Amino acid sequence: MTETMNQPLQPAANRFDLRDAVVIVTGGGKGIGKVYSEEFARVGAKVVVADIDADATASTATRIGGSGGDALGIRTDVSDPDSVAAMARQAVERFGRIDALINNASLMSVLTRQNWVEIPVEEWDRVMAVNLRGMFLCCRAVFPSTQQQGRGKIVNIASSRVFEGTPLRCRRAIRSARAR
Ligand SMILES: NC(=O)c1ccc[n+]([C@@H]2O[C@H](COP(=O)([O-])OP(=O)(O)OC[C@H]3O[C@@H](n4cnc5c(N)ncnc54)[C@H](O)[C@@H]3O)[C@@H](O)[C@H]2O)c1
Repeated sequence: MTETMNQPLQPAANRFDLRDAVVIVTGGGKGIGKVYSEEFARVGAKVVVADIDADATASTATRIGGSGGDALGIRTDVSDPDSVAAMARQAVERFGRIDALINNASLMSVLTRQNWVEIPVEEWDRVMAVNLRGMFLCCRAVFPSTQQQGRGKIVNIASSRVFEGTPLRCRRAIRSARAR
C-alpha cells in the first residue's frame, strides 16, 4: 500500500488491459462515477452506465459514444431488486457478459451535514437501502454471469472516513464500512 502510494500514479491503460472488458459502473452518470465511466471507456472497456438519474445516465453514455467509446446507459435504482436484475440482464443482452462491477452509487452529495440524533429514520433507511442493500443486490445480480465465466471483479467504493469519521457525517462513516 505505502509502496504504491509513493510511486507516481500510472494511467490505468499502462497497468491493466481493459480493452473490451464489460464494466458496470453504478452511479455512473454523475460525480466520480461519471469519471470512472469515461475513463473505463477511454481505455477500451465497454461501459454500462447505471444511475437512478435518467438524464445523467443518458448524457454520460451518449458522451462516451460520441468520443468513440462503447457505452450503454441503463436507468437503474440499485435499491430496487427488479431494477438491478433488469440492469444485469440488459448488460448481458447487449455485451454478452459482465467482467466487472463498480459499486459506486451512493447517497453522498445529496446528504446535508447533520447531528446524528436529528437524522430522520426514513432518511437513514434510504441511505442504507441505497448504499448497503444496493451493493448486495448488484453483486447478486452479476454473480450468475461471472460464475458462468469462472471470473469477474467487484470493486466496492467506500471512504477513508470509516477509519476516523467526520463531524456531522455519521451516515457517511457508517456506510463507508461497506467495503471493509
Ligand atoms: N465525493 C467525495 O468526497 C467522496 C469521498 C469518499 C468516497 N466517496 C464515494 O465515492 C462514490 C461517489 O461519490 P460522489 O461524490 O461522486 O457521489 P455523488 O452523490 O456525487 O454521486 C452519486 C451517484 O449515485 C447516483 N445514485 C444515487 N442513488 C442511486 C440509486 N438508488 N441507484 C443508482 N444510482 C444512484 C446519483 O445519481 C449519482 O450519480 C460514493 O460511493 C462515495 O461514497 C466520495
